[in-house]
Amino acid sequence: MRYDISNKRLAPIGRQRIEWAERQMDVLRVIREQFVSEKPLAGVHIAACLHVTAETANLMRTLKAGGAHVVLCASNPLSTQDDVAASLVSHYGIPVYARKGENRQTYFSHLTAALKVGPNITMDDGADLVSLLHKDPAFRALPVWGSTEETTTGVIRLKSMEKHGVLRMPVVAVNDAKTKHFFDNRYGTGQSTLDGIIRATNILIAGKVVVVAGYGWCGRGVAMRARGLGALVIVTEVDPLKSIEAALDGYQVMPMSRAARLGDIFVTLTGNINVIQKEHFLTMKDNAVVCNSGHFDVEIDLKTLRTMTIKKRQVREFVIEHTIRGRRKINVLAEGRLINLAAAEGHPPSVMDMSFANQALAAEFVVKHRRKLEKKVYPVPEDIDKRIAALKLKTMGITIDKLTAEQKEYLSSWHMGT
Ligand code: ADE
Repeated sequence: MRYDISNKRLAPIGRQRIEWAERQMDVLRVIREQFVSEKPLAGVHIAACLHVTAETANLMRTLKAGGAHVVLCASNPLSTQDDVAASLVSHYGIPVYARKGENRQTYFSHLTAALKVGPNITMDDGADLVSLLHKDPAFRALPVWGSTEETTTGVIRLKSMEKHGVLRMPVVAVNDAKTKHFFDNRYGTGQSTLDGIIRATNILIAGKVVVVAGYGWCGRGVAMRARGLGALVIVTEVDPLKSIEAALDGYQVMPMSRAARLGDIFVTLTGNINVIQKEHFLTMKDNAVVCNSGHFDVEIDLKTLRTMTIKKRQVREFVIEHTIRGRRKINVLAEGRLINLAAAEGHPPSVMDMSFANQALAAEFVVKHRRKLEKKVYPVPEDIDKRIAALKLKTMGITIDKLTAEQKEYLSSWHMGT
């Protein structure tokens, strides 16, 4: 078996973490048991480009239990958990190409290695694998049946490819399932981002001014959790509707040019480039902390910050202190990459449970319907979304009311009113 990981000796710790995560991934476990008996992915080659975490390991085990041949590479150079990668190789016989801290060249060589297996299905978190498939002539002829996409940024890229008529395969937008973005993007990002900031800096959040750039599902989660820890939260947005929501949720809403002067901690989650740039760095308080929890490391204009920097030094494992003109210090966390995966462990297993249940069932969907699917971005079918919600609720030990026959009739009729 070919693979490229940092250190195989870390495997025992990785296995412990995979098993710990598994205990909180009940929906995925139910699907795995079903996959073991039904083998819906028998003989299917799957190349996955996801964050290499304990939760992802449990997805890989599930796909393998369904009969698939899987290969995994990282979807971000800084998010790999090396012990998990080692365990996947050593204990689960799953080839992994990922090393935490890999450079850009290694990152892409790992994606290339994953595509070289000739996958029938690709699985992306950010669309890098699909993008490489389209760009590299060596992979143009690959007979890929379909792909699945985990994140908002990836879905945006893929829809743009569809719109421009260049998408060469069907894609299932896992991100857009309700059981994914309602929970993973909001509660997962909310908790793991604050976790990452705290682990990286050990800063007390209470009493700080936290500026959250972007009020999508992820931004909402971060704003909510920062407030829960006692921060005063400012939201910056470009969308009028989301701005009203943020204001009515009780946050201050203002442009970044004003927020820059007020913030102690800045978190970007917009999916866009240069949300924090030169004019903002120039007015930030001394010792401001700047980080990103959006998919790509493009949201903070670090290139320009580097040109403004008089002195730069590493002050903690994930903190680079930039001293700029006027002797003010700006602390950048995790090189502007996903703080929640670089400095913490990503979203907790119980939310990834629903996200990865969607991934597993989306893969099964692609296999079943591959002959009918067109080169389009498809939503996760509603019955899958509903099934995952029902299963999750059950595993949480929550029971809810059922509509009575009378209520069903009321809802389907237009005769009853005042
Ligand atoms: N994205 C965010 N958190 C994650 C996790 N724990 N595993 C995989 N992908 C993630």
